[in-house]
Amino acid sequence: MRKTLFWENGGLMLLDQTALPSREVYIRAESCERVAAAIKNMEVRGAPAIGLAAAYGFALGALSFVGAGPEWREHMKTVARVLSETRPTAVNLFWALRRMENKLHALHAEYDVTEPAPEVRAAFAAALLAEAEQMAVEDERDNRLLGAAGAALVPENAAILTHCNAGALATGAYGTALGVVRAAREAGKNPRIYACETRPCLQGARLTAWELWRENIPVTLITDGMAAYLMRQGKIDLVLVGADRIAANGDIANKIGTYALAVLAQAHSIPFYAAAPTSTVDLRAGSGDDIPVEERDGDEVRRLAGVQIAPPEVSVYNPSFDITPVKYITGLITEKGALSPPSAAALLKLIS
Ligand code: MRU
Repeated sequence: MRKTLFWENGGLMLLDQTALPSREVYIRAESCERVAAAIKNMEVRGAPAIGLAAAYGFALGALSFVGAGPEWREHMKTVARVLSETRPTAVNLFWALRRMENKLHALHAEYDVTEPAPEVRAAFAAALLAEAEQMAVEDERDNRLLGAAGAALVPENAAILTHCNAGALATGAYGTALGVVRAAREAGKNPRIYACETRPCLQGARLTAWELWRENIPVTLITDGMAAYLMRQGKIDLVLVGADRIAANGDIANKIGTYALAVLAQAHSIPFYAAAPTSTVDLRAGSGDDIPVEERDGDEVRRLAGVQIAPPEVSVYNPSFDITPVKYITGLITEKGALSPPSAAALLKLIS
């Protein structure tokens, strides 16, 4: 599969996820503002991919600076702010920006300058770009590691229910929940996927179904309301999703509809796993109550693929994510291993 995002000749190439599956086209972002817009309107989406895009956006912000020396620090603060004000729930965005800001502080200290001259700024921008590239390398490495850790939990010939898209499209490569699926397949376990379509933006139908179908991984698309019936029929062996933020107690934020699946899974004695890199863990959030949940435009619900499906005036509530309490989670799968069951103490030990 072609990469979700990559650097090419001074610009960030982003596979336009709003155009899939009808058109496979790339957007070229040459400014941090364009990257911020792409994150906001979901041309790039999925927690790790948002983080990587922001890291490249930060490097683009450094590259584009043309002002006088003293304005440099203010400019870079604005770059970080513009990128951070895009989507509030996926903590990977803030994690990535913090890492880039730390790199910038280290460069200031290394060169011992506060108002870098143009040639020094060029060296800073190159070093920031190298940091973003390194994050992309680590992202794929971690996804493969968590894939292997998760594959050990997947029985032979398992029917796996997933929600939204936690695949290669949502990361730099390989995917988290779908990374586990890929690893299980590579281990000869023959997994089959049921993908919830994932209203309102249809990431399951448009992205997960496309991504798996392209690799000949057996996938069956269902509407979100069908999950309970499939579980009742014994068609689902486990539920496997990604996460946008994991609180210190193990609660997770993920795409709206995830919580319902977790409750249903417990009611049918089906294991429910969330797969995410440890960069998704936010120890500042004590529980899911501390995680900000993005609310998006009501037209995402009133309209479908450009067609008006509800009165334009009708009131809509459109939270983009929900919180799944840890008591419904059988296990968390990370690049450092799986926690089953998850607990605050085990999570803290894992990431420190
Ligand atoms: O609104 P989106 O498409 O960015 O939401 C994505 C999800 O909820 C994913 O499940 C999550 O980011 C994990 S991606 C590896």
